[in-house]
Amino acid sequence: MKLIAIETSCDETAAAVVSDGREVLSSVVASQVEEHIIYGGVVPEIASRRHVEAISGVVSLAMRQAGMTYDRLDGVAVTYAPGLIGALLVGVNFAKGLSYAAGLPLVPVHHLRAHAAANYISSPDLEPPFLCLIVSGGHSHIVEVKDYTDFHVIGRTRDDAAGECLDKAARAMGLPYPGGQNLDKAAAGGDPLSCSLPHPSVQGSEYDFSFSGLKTAAVNIIHKAKQRGEDINVPNLGASYIKAVTDCLVERTEKAASAFSHKKIALAGGVSANSVLRREMTEMCKRNKLELFMPPPRLCGDNAAMVGAQGYFELLKGNIAPLSLNAIATAEI
Ligand code: KG4
Ligand code: ZN
Repeated sequence: MKLIAIETSCDETAAAVVSDGREVLSSVVASQVEEHIIYGGVVPEIASRRHVEAISGVVSLAMRQAGMTYDRLDGVAVTYAPGLIGALLVGVNFAKGLSYAAGLPLVPVHHLRAHAAANYISSPDLEPPFLCLIVSGGHSHIVEVKDYTDFHVIGRTRDDAAGECLDKAARAMGLPYPGGQNLDKAAAGGDPLSCSLPHPSVQGSEYDFSFSGLKTAAVNIIHKAKQRGEDINVPNLGASYIKAVTDCLVERTEKAASAFSHKKIALAGGVSANSVLRREMTEMCKRNKLELFMPPPRLCGDNAAMVGAQGYFELLKGNIAPLSLNAIATAEI
């Protein structure tokens, strides 16, 4: 089964053609990063307008690169939730138009399910059940993928997402947007033990995260240094900060794997491109004799190939939306 997939939940306009949920025939990602750099983050209104301009060309290019025609497709998959509402609406409406014009089923895909599904592309033998740490700019979830369309959230952040926490600290350290990625590079070679930072936990919820206190601690260090007229050592503070975030993510994933008896662990979402998280998670899995699955960095960030992968399993399950499908800013996985 071949699907055209569309993703517009944040600042990437993306389209892909995917076969049987595992084989990517084409994948086009038009990033708006350059546009948002001067604002230090994504401006929702600008994101929506850029999606409107880009979507038609991006979908046509994905079809052309796959050598695909609409009569040979089996469905149109689209991210309908969660995300920036104005941005999602562009993709959803475009997908509805395609579905109606080509007479193809419209398949609604949850963005976090799609992130997890990126692993089906990079690891063709991976099958549920497995435990998945999904860490992005808007979410930090530990999820049991019980089946392709059956998810159980074990833990989640109570405040900031891991990506948001990295982005905000990176900005305070004077690094340009996108912060997480730039902090990863800037911290390479820094001493992760040079600054003492809190490793916050949530009392009574051993699998949940709380990152806002950690972020405030880093911002305070930066402000105090500025008041004293001192320069901050970005590699050292950055490395210590990434270590604090990563320690929380790895430690809770390790606990959840043991408590819920999972032997297969997967990473997903933009933050899973982080070099320290990948290294620490690899070591933790080796220690515990767990099998680790990680998409390559290009499949960690937002893309439409992962939407096509999850869309295939949603379609198999009969998850077809009516043309009244709406976009939703927040929705359970
Ligand atoms: O999944 P994603 O592309 O978009 C959302 O669904 O939010 O995730 C974006 C997040 C941003 O916070 C970005 O800073 C972070 O992923 N990110 C990274 C790295 N690459 C992207 N964080 C740490 N290290 C990276 N290498
Ligand atoms: Zn995402």
